[in-house]
Amino acid sequence: MKNLFITGGSGLLGSKFGYLAGDRYDITVTHHKNPVQNSVSFDITDEEDVINKISLLNPDFVVHSAALTNVDYCEDHPDEAWNINVNGTENIAKACEKTGSKLVYVSTDFVFDGERGMYLEDDETNPLGHYALTKLKGEEVIQKYDVDHAVARVSVLYGWHSCMNFVTWVINELKNGMEINIVTDQYNSPTLADNAAEAILKLFELDKTGVYHTAGGERINRFDFALNIADVFELDSNLINPVESKSFVQKAKRPRDSSLNVEKVEKDTGMKMFDTVEGLEYMKRVMESH
Ligand SMILES: NC(=O)c1ccc[n+]([C@@H]2O[C@H](COP(=O)([O-])OP(=O)(O)OC[C@H]3O[C@@H](n4cnc5c(N)ncnc54)[C@H](OP(=O)(O)O)[C@@H]3O)[C@@H](O)[C@H]2O)c1
Repeated sequence: MKNLFITGGSGLLGSKFGYLAGDRYDITVTHHKNPVQNSVSFDITDEEDVINKISLLNPDFVVHSAALTNVDYCEDHPDEAWNINVNGTENIAKACEKTGSKLVYVSTDFVFDGERGMYLEDDETNPLGHYALTKLKGEEVIQKYDVDHAVARVSVLYGWHSCMNFVTWVINELKNGMEINIVTDQYNSPTLADNAAEAILKLFELDKTGVYHTAGGERINRFDFALNIADVFELDSNLINPVESKSFVQKAKRPRDSSLNVEKVEKDTGMKMFDTVEGLEYMKRVMESH
């Protein structure tokens, strides 16, 4: 059985590999501060620990999903963000070079400035904030190492998880009868974490390298996404108020339209990247099956 090593196994995306592929692979997941079932404690900023643990397990495939993901926190804590997202990624790449493991690094739509939208993999990057800059530098730092690798860019991850994400937050607020203000002028390609994890596994299984947009197959703004959530989960959409992003004070600048073109991953893997209704209906089926 092939051996997979998932950094950020306690995070939203990293948590999906075990149940998607636990029967096909021997999977080790890691946590940093929040242990999950059978997870290994791991700090990607500790070079020696990273190299020792990865060398000991000698995985066929490493998914590097761990990151400091809070965009506004990264803006306020640039050194910490750099240490985790850039130096931590370099440590993972170094270890993979040593063990000969294939690596998929999970990156973001925020590497683009959002002036155009529906970006292709080789379009010019121009990160607007510090989080985005560190994630792009993570993409670049891997190139220094002799590692068979792919970069998987995702966008606004959602799915069932112990920590809230946009979808679970909207469901929660609407269920509690709370009014919510959602922006109409920020577009992305919301990505069901389960669907992205499956695409990442396919990249490994099909031995693909290079950059891939493993995101949702739809360009949509947050307000319309929220309406779809209300619709699929049969909640009151009248509680959702449309607002413009200028009415929110956010520390880090967000791209206006960082939607991603997913044709390449669909063509190369034969997979369908879900639009938001497909992703939300998947979540509803999972909920109903429990
Ligand atoms: N969330 C999004 O909307 C989004 C959008 C675009 C791209 N991405 C990218 O997708 C990937 C997955 O995001 P996510 O939302 O699933 O992440 P998440 O839920 O925020 O989880 C982050 C993970 O990173 C781990 N981590 C943080 N610092 C660490 C350190 N120093 N050493 C080891 N592990 C550390 C955390 O461990 P503990 O919790 O145990 O501390 C957690 O498992 C990230 O690379 C992110 O940049 C996310």
